[in-house]
Amino acid sequence: MSTGSQLSLLPHPEKTTEIPLKPEGQIIVGDTLEELRKFPDETFQCCVTSPPYWGLRDYGIPGQIGAEMKLEDYVTKLVQVFHEVKRTLKSDSTFWLNIGDGYTSGGRTWRDSDKKNKGRGMDYRAPTPDGLKPKDLIGVPWRVAFALQADGWYLRSEVIWYKPNAQPESVKDRPTRAHEHVFLFSKNEQYFYDHEAVREKGDNGSPRNLRSVWQVNTEPYAEAHFATFPRALILPCLVAGSKQDSTVLDPFFGSGTVGLVSGALGRRFVGIELNPEYAQLARKRLGW
Ligand SMILES: C[S@@+](CC[C@H](N)C(=O)[O-])C[C@H]1O[C@@H](n2cnc3c(N)ncnc32)[C@H](O)[C@@H]1O
Repeated sequence: MSTGSQLSLLPHPEKTTEIPLKPEGQIIVGDTLEELRKFPDETFQCCVTSPPYWGLRDYGIPGQIGAEMKLEDYVTKLVQVFHEVKRTLKSDSTFWLNIGDGYTSGGRTWRDSDKKNKGRGMDYRAPTPDGLKPKDLIGVPWRVAFALQADGWYLRSEVIWYKPNAQPESVKDRPTRAHEHVFLFSKNEQYFYDHEAVREKGDNGSPRNLRSVWQVNTEPYAEAHFATFPRALILPCLVAGSKQDSTVLDPFFGSGTVGLVSGALGRRFVGIELNPEYAQLARKRLGW
């Protein structure tokens, strides 16, 4: 497991805090599948994204992904969206997918709202999927990863995002969850991946190849009622996967963290977001 306080990329230890005044890019408000269909083939160099988790949060808008009653429908929807992402990516592109897991409901049909996290209230809760039992960990990330492999993506790495400051849980019959997955996919067998640029500091201080466990604290953005990316989490994805002056895609833009880090690295971005209020939040955050 990675040691040290935070993932630190040797060539760019300071990059996460360097935000240019106005990152260059485009925010599109709309349904991501419909909007992606309007882009020509091979437009983007890299995609970094985090779709809504299944059944976890109500983003409060019709057409939102994550509110499907059946897990299979959620997986199918994501495969459709990411199929379109694949079409719009250049042939040497990578796709970095952060996706969360969850537990079956155990028979409850709603979830109480959470004072700290307003988006966690749901007025429904999806029933336990066929083949699973109450209290089962669903394994959403791997279900989606296998479905994407079957759709033609190359699954190249499973990164464990270890969160030292993970929320405490009151559970007494399992460990507290303190990680999420970030999968690295490529469109083709050969692809652009700048391994030199993402070397990390090894235990003896000398550079070594980036490891697959990244220790990164969560970085809440007070104005967003949903999980935002910590900038340090997506920095290695963008440094390894995008070229100077290329365009990065985030089809679930939220508060626009991918736009911020793209700007800091001199990349352009396109962000697609269904909720106009969140898009407005992203504009504000980008200083537009
Ligand atoms: C987990 S959040 C992304 C947060 C983002 N990574 C950040 O750093 O702020 C997922 C986002 O997907 C958006 N979303 C849900 N369904 C969508 C759809 N059909 N089309 C576009 N965006 C959608 C939600 O409104 C939410 O902002």
